[in-house]
Amino acid sequence: MNQLKGIPESMLIPLAARAREFDHENPIIKDELSKEIFCHIKNDYKNIECDKMSQVGISVRSAILDDITQDFVNNAENPIVINIGCGLDTRYQRFNTYNLSWVDLDVPESIQIRKQFFEETAHYKMIVKSMLDDTWIEQAKQYDFYDKDANLLFIFEGVLMYFDMQTIKGLLNTIIQQFASHKITFAIEFCSKTIAKNTKRHKSVSKLSSQPLFQYGYNQLAELDAILPKQLSIKHEYNYFDFYKSRWGLFGACRYIPFLKNRLNNKIVTMEN
Ligand SMILES: C[S@@+](CC[C@H](N)C(=O)[O-])C[C@H]1O[C@@H](n2cnc3c(N)ncnc32)[C@H](O)[C@@H]1O
Repeated sequence: MNQLKGIPESMLIPLAARAREFDHENPIIKDELSKEIFCHIKNDYKNIECDKMSQVGISVRSAILDDITQDFVNNAENPIVINIGCGLDTRYQRFNTYNLSWVDLDVPESIQIRKQFFEETAHYKMIVKSMLDDTWIEQAKQYDFYDKDANLLFIFEGVLMYFDMQTIKGLLNTIIQQFASHKITFAIEFCSKTIAKNTKRHKSVSKLSSQPLFQYGYNQLAELDAILPKQLSIKHEYNYFDFYKSRWGLFGACRYIPFLKNRLNNKIVTMEN
């Protein structure tokens, strides 16, 4: 088992969260595959921590993104999903009854572990490249299922908070320009500016041996204008406090106080061209 360093080490946290959620008496998502993978690798990564609030947050984001993906699959013409920074994500496997075309992308050290548990098929491909290496785009366009009229859904789950504003802006612009003929939807997880400045207080991320740091977050949705390509418009912001209300304990009260709601949780934002 290779030792993960830097941001790739963080992929173990959502895996642990989904695995633990499977055993909850009233789970937000029921993901048996994550549980199996977690049992397989947990002895190799003894410092994997997933605190209770992260377990809820990650389960909530999984459920929100499952719904967004379902909606996209139901309504898009010739849908293709491109999941960037996939880690050990299991969403495609939860959707496989649709014979859906799907690309999971991550850096080599993450995909090396992923390939122990997942296999490519005619409709499911794994790209072994950094999202910052633009050659991944040509590779995606070479797949048999690629069609220049396809509707594309790009998912960034637990990824972009580790990158700075200019990098995110450049990446979104590159995607928009290189897939210019397509109808594109983005579903992106963002943290708040407050959370981005306090990685060391994050109960799970701060326990990772390589201690990757969050770099970008926003408190007010309007701040996102600074990174969005002009072709994109925001469709919806999903603040996690608004979902599965009984699971947030006392923190749940934040949903009634906008100042705290905007700062103490993550959100998924959907955007379209
Ligand atoms: C917190 S994990 C999220 C994994 C997965 N999306 C999930 O929710 O289970 C962050 C992921 O970003 C990936 N990542 C980091 N830098 C990347 C890059 N330059 N290109 C693509 N993926 C990257 C890491 O390898 C890791 O799998």
